[in-house]
Amino acid sequence: MKGIVMNLLAEMVESQLGIEEWDAVLDAADESGVYTSTAIYEDARLLNLVSILSERNGIPANDLVFAFGQFMFPAFYQRYPSLIENHDNMLDFLESLDSVIHVEVVKLYPGAITPGFEPDRKSATQLFLKYESERNLCRLAEGLIDGAAKHFQHEYTLTHAPCAHDGADYCGLLVDIVAA
Ligand code: HEM
Repeated sequence: MKGIVMNLLAEMVESQLGIEEWDAVLDAADESGVYTSTAIYEDARLLNLVSILSERNGIPANDLVFAFGQFMFPAFYQRYPSLIENHDNMLDFLESLDSVIHVEVVKLYPGAITPGFEPDRKSATQLFLKYESERNLCRLAEGLIDGAAKHFQHEYTLTHAPCAHDGADYCGLLVDIVAA
């Protein structure tokens, strides 16, 4: 994972649980906490930090990963508003994840390995995304989608089927806009 992701995890923990908690997690993981945004770090290091956080705070790792996605969206918006601003609604934005957003992300962060999000637009209010990644971070994707829904001020439902964690080859994320 790119250092920007490690730095955003630090930002989330410091703002929501306090700097002492982040220092304690770094100590337990034997990490310095100094990450360069554009450098690449082993995924295992991020996952280890999440698992220590989860144990220390009694929060299931899946819930932490979802919350991290919710935190990431506004953080990305703050850094790269132009990538997000030129979409009128969440489904148009999500539809462009593979073809535009993550393509731009790889330009900004050379060497970034972004997931596959194949879109299948079912109707004006419904989009099916096929999420494929060896990292199987579908809960992060769900959190990011939730952050996007808040940004675009949509009420929505998300149906997650199938799921790679249950042995499927991919995750299906069906996003339905209920109200704008
Ligand atoms: C709701 C919209 C988005 C979703 C659902 C999404 C989903 C994801 C997921 C699940 C990952 C983890 C990697 C993996 O699964 O293999 C990821 C990585 C990443 N995404 Fe997105 N993303 C979204 C929007 C954005 C935006 C707007 C930006 C920045 C402007 C961005 C930048 C990144 C970066 C920097 C990584 C890390 C790649 C790496 O470390 O190699 N994403 N994204």
